[in-house]
Amino acid sequence: MKRSFLLWYVLLVQAFFYGAWYSVGGSLHCEYSNSVILHRPHSVSITEFGAVGDGVTLNTKAFQNALFYLNSFSDKGGAKLFVPAGQWLTGSFDLISHLTLWLDKGATILGSTASLSQEYILARRIGLWLILYHHMDEEESCLSDDVMVIGENGTIDGQGSVWWDWFRHGELNYTRPHIVELINTTGLIISNLTFLNSPFWNIHPVYCSGWDEYGISYARPSSKIKINRLTGQTTSSSGIAIGSEMSGGVSDIYIKDLHLFNSNTGIRIKTSPGRGGYVRNVHVSNVKFHNVQKAIRFTGKYGEHPDENFDPKALPVIEKITFENINGEDIGVAGLLEGIEGDEFKNICFLNVTLTVKKNSKKAPWKCSHVRGYSQWVSPEITCDSFGESIFPEHSSDCFGLSENNLEKSSGLSRSPWLLSW
Ligand SMILES: *[C@@H]1O[C@H](CO)[C@@H](O)[C@H](O)[C@H]1NC(C)=O
Ligand SMILES: *[C@@H]1O[C@H](CO)[C@@H](O)[C@H](O)[C@H]1NC(C)=O
Ligand SMILES: *[C@@H]1O[C@H](CO)[C@@H](O)[C@H](O)[C@H]1NC(C)=O
Ligand SMILES: *[C@@H]1O[C@H](CO)[C@@H](O)[C@H](O)[C@H]1NC(C)=O
Ligand SMILES: *[C@@H]1O[C@H](CO)[C@@H](O)[C@H](O)[C@H]1NC(C)=O
Repeated sequence: MKRSFLLWYVLLVQAFFYGAWYSVGGSLHCEYSNSVILHRPHSVSITEFGAVGDGVTLNTKAFQNALFYLNSFSDKGGAKLFVPAGQWLTGSFDLISHLTLWLDKGATILGSTASLSQEYILARRIGLWLILYHHMDEEESCLSDDVMVIGENGTIDGQGSVWWDWFRHGELNYTRPHIVELINTTGLIISNLTFLNSPFWNIHPVYCSGWDEYGISYARPSSKIKINRLTGQTTSSSGIAIGSEMSGGVSDIYIKDLHLFNSNTGIRIKTSPGRGGYVRNVHVSNVKFHNVQKAIRFTGKYGEHPDENFDPKALPVIEKITFENINGEDIGVAGLLEGIEGDEFKNICFLNVTLTVKKNSKKAPWKCSHVRGYSQWVSPEITCDSFGESIFPEHSSDCFGLSENNLEKSSGLSRSPWLLSW
């Protein structure tokens, strides 16, 4: 049977990692916003480095040489690497700071399957095609990698099916690589691209988070991440997952204008006793789900520890997660919300959420354990006792990031006339 390896088909990705970094003394302050200048004073095409976009020629050296050359412009406003229309087969390469990697209309970067030996990937710090890592230097006054991976709907195709075969047959000796691996990264925009066929996740920020005792000791959080205007499909996994490796902490995540279809899980938070860390201040809004088995899922007992040395008493803190203006059709289960016994997930808020469950679904639309929060204008109604109280008026400050729009509508009312329409 031909299986689909199209795992996280993403069209128009704007995962915008913007750094607001404060020095220890608090005097330095770097901020990056949507207004990041898209212009670079220097620009070269990958063809100038001998690359051939025929889908057959291996262009790894061309990419590596181009980036080595462009690195010399890092203190001169950075540089742009232009990838024209064509099929550009390559092994992995490291991104550099102050770079715009531009995939023009009709450009596809193809991951080479020839270089996919596990040992090779391990030697490449388990990243696959594009790896961006930054050695943080305390001397730096303004810390930013200032990288953009953008395009006019260009494509990065990991050709990762061989990895899924190894994974499904239990033949993997090491973990799988990701298409884009971000290590210690700040100041990054990924936009207007399609990611296909990753061996694992498409975009994977690490250190920016980590795993159990290692993540706890490394203690580097992932924060201030915006994921906007993303369309995708995943047959086996989640459109967006936070965790399970969240031991460094994850906070201030804004997810907006998301469309997920024909997928297993929509949005998922995964953690486990032993992880420690936290996931807090997450705001998810304007989401549309079509034919998604589990629209929203929390998993408190994900398991999967790196080794036996984890501390089972290191409990994660999961709090202040808001879902606002969410709509779904053909949903299997609206919310499968499982926290951790003795370590309740709290201040979880659902506002204006309509998840129409499939007619033939035999499962309860909502299932909750060890999760507590508030809900308002939710259909089907969350029947769990721990969500019995409404958000307005007295709990609006317990919920993270409620939009002005909804705050206004609710002003002074716990039961707005609006409610009557539900
Ligand atoms: C990430 O930053 C830390 C501390 O700033 C540094 O020790 C480490 O080597 C960096 N990791 C990579 C892969 O650059
Ligand atoms: C972008 O490319 C994908 C295929 O890679 C295509 O399905 C989609 O229609 C394109 N979108 C736009 C806006 O051109
Ligand atoms: C894993 O290691 C075994 C033993 O060294 C080797 O035979 C096998 O090919 C490796 N698996 C993969 C997918 O490389
Ligand atoms: C992405 O494409 C849209 C529509 O063409 C455009 O408005 C936006 O500026 C693009 N984003 C970036 C970062 O280039
Ligand atoms: C409720 O959410 C839907 C999207 O799911 C949106 O169209 C609608 O405007 C929202 N209602 C309010 C009052 O914000």
